[in-house]
Amino acid sequence: MHISNPLTAALAALPLTSANPLDTRQSSPTLTVNLAQKYQEIDGFGFSEAFQRAYNIYNLPEPKRSQLVDLLFSVTTGAGFTIVRNGIGSSQSSQSDWMNTFLPASPGSPTAEPAYVWDGKDSGQVWVSQQALRYGVKTFYGDAWSAPGFMKTNGKDTNGGQLCGVSGASCSSGDWKQAYANYLVKYIQFYQQSGIDVTHIGFLNEPDMSTSYASMQSTGQQSADFIKVLYPTLQKAGLSNVSIACCEATGWQAQSTMTAALKAAGVENMLGVVTAHTYTSGISGTQPTTRKVWETECSDLSGGWSTAWYTNGAAGDGFTWANNIYTGLTTGNVSAYLWWVATQDKATNNNNNEKLILVDGNTYTVSKRFWAFAQYSRTIRPKAVRVGVSGGGGGSNLRSTAFLNADGSIAVNVINSGAGAVTLSVVGTGATAARGWKTDGSNDMTEIAVVVGTDGTVSGVSVPGRGLTSVVISTAS
Ligand SMILES: *[C@@H]1O[C@H](CO)[C@@H](O)[C@H](O)[C@H]1NC(C)=O
Ligand SMILES: *[C@@H]1O[C@H](CO)[C@@H](O)[C@H](O)[C@H]1NC(C)=O
Repeated sequence: MHISNPLTAALAALPLTSANPLDTRQSSPTLTVNLAQKYQEIDGFGFSEAFQRAYNIYNLPEPKRSQLVDLLFSVTTGAGFTIVRNGIGSSQSSQSDWMNTFLPASPGSPTAEPAYVWDGKDSGQVWVSQQALRYGVKTFYGDAWSAPGFMKTNGKDTNGGQLCGVSGASCSSGDWKQAYANYLVKYIQFYQQSGIDVTHIGFLNEPDMSTSYASMQSTGQQSADFIKVLYPTLQKAGLSNVSIACCEATGWQAQSTMTAALKAAGVENMLGVVTAHTYTSGISGTQPTTRKVWETECSDLSGGWSTAWYTNGAAGDGFTWANNIYTGLTTGNVSAYLWWVATQDKATNNNNNEKLILVDGNTYTVSKRFWAFAQYSRTIRPKAVRVGVSGGGGGSNLRSTAFLNADGSIAVNVINSGAGAVTLSVVGTGATAARGWKTDGSNDMTEIAVVVGTDGTVSGVSVPGRGLTSVVISTAS
């Protein structure tokens, strides 16, 4: 979703659990990590630079450009993002902020030879992906907002319409399912030429909505019809290692309906990940699937540009997003949590919170939402497994998560919704060393000193009032 719409904007303002503002007691609770209690595996955290937002970074003069890339991907000074969601173009040109397609002209029929035209830039996204690669990012998600217009019932890539050939969508030009699957395989091959292995492929964006920009509508059944063609097409192309992602519905609820329909249509085992946005409904439970689930797009569509950390739970606050990420990781059982766009420029998109970073001419401004993401993204790395953590006291203001990273380290993230600081201890990990960081109104992932006892207890972990602290614990094992 990249253009504000009053309906979705209103629905996007998710309520935040309120804490008692008068409760400023100091306390020193103990959190107990339970490594034997295992939940979902994590693929990572990320963002998109679709709709030519990538050029906001690319066009910055040095050293600002390198600094911004560092901010996005560095695990020591930035957010250490690990997933890039690229938009697969469907538009006829690069007019406005459109993403151009690499198949601008219809070959005439679904079985005729297509004349692909690859510009090697892909609206700046190839360059951003190459930067990510330099920092070790391994997860690249290519997602199409729409098929090229000539493959659709409405003959254009905008204003909804459906893919010709899926249930209930027949076209005089024929059945374009196979041609669309070939097109997506071609996209993966073009990225390979630029040194980028696409790991996940999606063929829809917000299929429950029709918009004036690239959009294609689809029900769960129609999506299943296409997955039955895409899956064997990937296999035949030697790309069975690319996961199919579906369906990017506007909200968690809308996706649940589609997920159930995919299952009923028998394609659940062809899916890599179930993907959903949180605009029309937030994360209120798990998706009805045993596949991995990714939250692939969220932002505040209603608020004016804000860099605030805490203003009583406003939808653009950094603290609000710390809580939203927490809810995704726990209630939502998500394996990935992605923001919408990393950047927008001041001239055209100043007054909203769709972005994490505002680019203005030769410089940029970082929102506190960015640092909420950084605290989680930098400490919970790909292949981490969420583990149990309990404690903090009855009626506590603390919301904690714990993860066992693939390198054996343990990340514990604690949100404090009370107004007063809390200093806590972490047990159950057998810590031999630990480092901690905090974010609040006046800190951007500032390192804090923590104490590791000879008994493996990590103490002195201070969590600011309305703040977020992360600890990464090393163990001997
Ligand atoms: C998937 O397989 C293809 C073909 O063997 C290979 O070129 C590509 O690197 C693989 N992609 C990933 C993400 O491993
Ligand atoms: C959580 O996700 C994993 C896949 O990542 C799945 O196996 C498990 O069934 C899910 N749990 C629930 C309660 O949905």
